[in-house]
Order: sequence, then C-alpha cells, then structure tokens
Amino acid sequence: MSIQNQLEELQTEAVSAIAACQDLEELEQLRVKYLGKKGQLSQILRGMGKLSPEERPVVGSQANEIKEAIQNSLEKQKEALQKSAIEAQIKAETLDVTMPGVSRPLGKIHPLNGVIDRVVDIFVGLGYTVATGPQVETDYYNFEALNTPQDHPARDMQDTFYLPGGNLLRTHTSSVQIRYMENNQPPIRIIAPGRVYRRDTVDATHSAVFHQVELLAIDKGLKFTDLKGTIKEFLRRMFGDDLPVQFRTSYFPFTEPSAEVDVQWKGKWLEVLGCGMVDPNVLKAVGYDPEVYTGFAAGFGVERFAMVLHQIDDIRRLYNSDLRFLNQF
Ligand code: DAH
Repeated sequence: MSIQNQLEELQTEAVSAIAACQDLEELEQLRVKYLGKKGQLSQILRGMGKLSPEERPVVGSQANEIKEAIQNSLEKQKEALQKSAIEAQIKAETLDVTMPGVSRPLGKIHPLNGVIDRVVDIFVGLGYTVATGPQVETDYYNFEALNTPQDHPARDMQDTFYLPGGNLLRTHTSSVQIRYMENNQPPIRIIAPGRVYRRDTVDATHSAVFHQVELLAIDKGLKFTDLKGTIKEFLRRMFGDDLPVQFRTSYFPFTEPSAEVDVQWKGKWLEVLGCGMVDPNVLKAVGYDPEVYTGFAAGFGVERFAMVLHQIDDIRRLYNSDLRFLNQF
C-alpha cells in the first residue's frame, strides 16, 4: 500500500476511534497510539526515505494535514468529554432544597435532672464540690451517726424499706455527710445529689422515692448567719428575687438549731428544704472536735424545687414518663 493510502486509512481510523471514545484517559491513549513518538503516524513516515524527491514534499504536506486533522478531533472530543464530566458532577451534587427534611427528635433533660444540674452549678460557683454515697445504707450512716439512735422518735418520720441482712434504703442524703467527713478533714464544702426512699403514702406532694441535694460546710467559726446567707443567696439564684421565702424554726436530730424553708407554690407555703447548724454529736461521731469546728447543713427537695420552678401541680407527673408532659421542659 502506498504511503498516501496508509495515511488516508490512518486518518479515517483515528478520527472514528476518537469520536467513539468516551473516556479522557482512553483518549490520551489514542493520542499516543496515533501521534506519539512511536505512534502509527511516525511509523508510516519512516517509509518516506524510499520516496522520490518529488513525492516527498507532497506526502509531507499530506502528513501534516492528517496530523492536524487528528489533533483537531482529539481536541474536540476532549472538550466534549470534559464538558459532560462537569455536567454529570453538577447534576450529582445538586441539592433539592424543596425536599422535605428528615427530622430527628431531640432528647431533653428531665426536669428533675435539670433542677439537680442547676443546684450543682450554683454551689460549684460558690466553691463547693460534689460528693456521692450509696443508696443502700447501714443503720449507722443513715441514723446512728446522725444523732438518731434506735429509739429516737424522729425515726418514725423516716420509716424506710429494710433489706435482708439489716441494711436499708437511705431516707435522706444526710448519710453522705458522715461518709464524707469520715474520709476528709475540714474545711469542707460539699453538695451531694441523690435518690432517697421513704415509706410514705403517695399523694400530690409526696412520693416513696424522691431526690435530694445535701449541703454541708464545716470550718472554723461558721455561724447561723453563714447558713442563712448561703441559703438565701442560693434561693435567689435558683428562683429569682421575687419568690416569697420564709425561714421557720424546726427540729432535726442532726442539727441544732434547725430550720425549714418554705416558698410560695399555688398560693400557699410549700416546704422545700431543711437546714441547721451541725449538731456537736454528729461532729464527735466522725472524730471532729466541736470546740474547734462548727458547720451548717441542708437537705433540698429536688421534686419540690421542680414543682415551684415549673408550676407543676402534682409530684407524680415527674415519674410518669409522659412525653406530652416532659416535652414542655
Ligand atoms: N435530712 C433531712 C430530711 O430528709 C433534711 C435535712 C435537714 C438535711 C436539715 C440537712 C439538715 O442536712 O441540716 O428531711
């Protein structure tokens, strides 16, 4: 076959192969195959040596035209492929903003945990740290060490659930006071949130299982005014300036003097905490010298706080896991 014919055939083959190519990498391979240094065009042109001097320039210019034609179709195909690649990418990345969203329900903090978090935040801000203790307690930590011996009438108010072997479910977080003081030396500033149990008849303001936050401060020279100032500041931060509050003298075996604090709820006074100066007998039980150290303590009713804060009319709502209720917080 003459060189001219070979060149024509090469052009036909190359142009149709390029037009059919759908991939940029394959297109580059075609370029190498036809126009590369060792490509088919070069191979054909190697036969030019055998041509007569008259034929050479003719074949030479034919070869140039063919080369140009192949280059053009390579270029055209490349552009077309790049354009459609971009279009495909744009299409794949299109976001239909009119599509309805998928909504995932958000979890919420339970109002009781919300109250505990707030109380903890306030006291941590006043320099207190958090302590905890077990819910299954011994008689010693729950009563004896808190100046409440076996025959003490105050035990009647804190009747509880007894477990086989003599342990009991703690009736208050005050047991944490003893456990903490046994293992630490004054000065002490702690709060202890936790669950407590009573053999109580359930009604709108009572539950057999509820929550308290205990407060304990022991130092040299702490007085009743320190207790009152701390509690008042706490209540102001918890409920704001406007909620009416009253201190009422009271009695607890583990404090002397003792007080209870009521706040306004549904038009009447609701007791929300007990407090007092730590009884010297309690300090002696943990080996502190009551002539050197004094302290104050308090026990907050978490449910009662929640009821006042959120205007909840019945304590039982806090335990029913009714999402229509809980979603409001
Ligand atoms: N533990 C008491 C109760 O559950 C509340 C209480 C009163 C705690 C006075 C105290 C306190 O720390 O000082 O009824």
